[in-house]
Amino acid sequence: MKIILLGPPGAGKGTQARYICEQYHIPHISTGDLLRAAIKQQTELGIRAKQVMDAGGLVSDEIILGMVAERIAQPDCANGCLFDGFPRTIPQAEAINAQHIIIDHIIQIEIADDEIVKRLSGRRICPSTGRVYNVIFDPPKVAGKDDDTGEALIQRDDDKEETIRQRLQVYHQQTSPLINFYQSLAAEQGKPVYSVIDGSQSVDRVKSAIFTALNDQ
Ligand code: AP5
Repeated sequence: MKIILLGPPGAGKGTQARYICEQYHIPHISTGDLLRAAIKQQTELGIRAKQVMDAGGLVSDEIILGMVAERIAQPDCANGCLFDGFPRTIPQAEAINAQHIIIDHIIQIEIADDEIVKRLSGRRICPSTGRVYNVIFDPPKVAGKDDDTGEALIQRDDDKEETIRQRLQVYHQQTSPLINFYQSLAAEQGKPVYSVIDGSQSVDRVKSAIFTALNDQ
């Protein structure tokens, strides 16, 4: 099964991806995580991407498509995968179609911009596992430490309010047109199945709404 999680920054895509991948035994492909790994390794691509990401912009379609092509060629993607944060532009979605990669389900998580700013300002991440916490909504058992590894949690460089607002603007301009793109495709071809989930609910309620949508397909 191939699934796309679509939604603005901070909608809860990464949080829900963990549950979906566990349930359906598919790998989580987050283009944001792939880029952050390249930054950590200080590759040429990573150095170029960091400037764009810190400014809240989008990395070029060419770089993203190359990275995704390499990732989905790995054997663990043979039975499907979950795309998180990809595609993010119409050219990226068109490239998937052109390669005849069939997407089974789109899960669109909806949430208001002001709630996103609150959530992202409180987000903390485990640097090695990528597990996501929130100091208000989903705190770790011990403040500042990962529940499993005990490592110190970090805050992402692009989770500053000014950058969050810029990322939201970019989402509304360049990514939200994908809603029409996939809804039209679903209406014309009956695939992908398209579900809209209210992301303002608790993590557990969002999770069960997603599972209901996926199991009903
Ligand atoms: P990326 O890493 O993909 O970031 P994003 O899409 O901006 O999404 P986030 O990771 O910020 O949020 P999320 O929806 O996963 O929310 P989360 O679950 O963490 O991209 C980063 C950058 O890389 C981009 O800006 C761009 O520059 C570049 N990039 C990546 N992909 C690209 C592409 N395809 N093309 C071009 N450029 C690309 O949750 C957020 C917080 O809320 C957490 O603290 C969490 O604990 C909390 N939370 C989650 N759910 C709930 C809930 N239901 N109630 C209360 N709190 C909740």
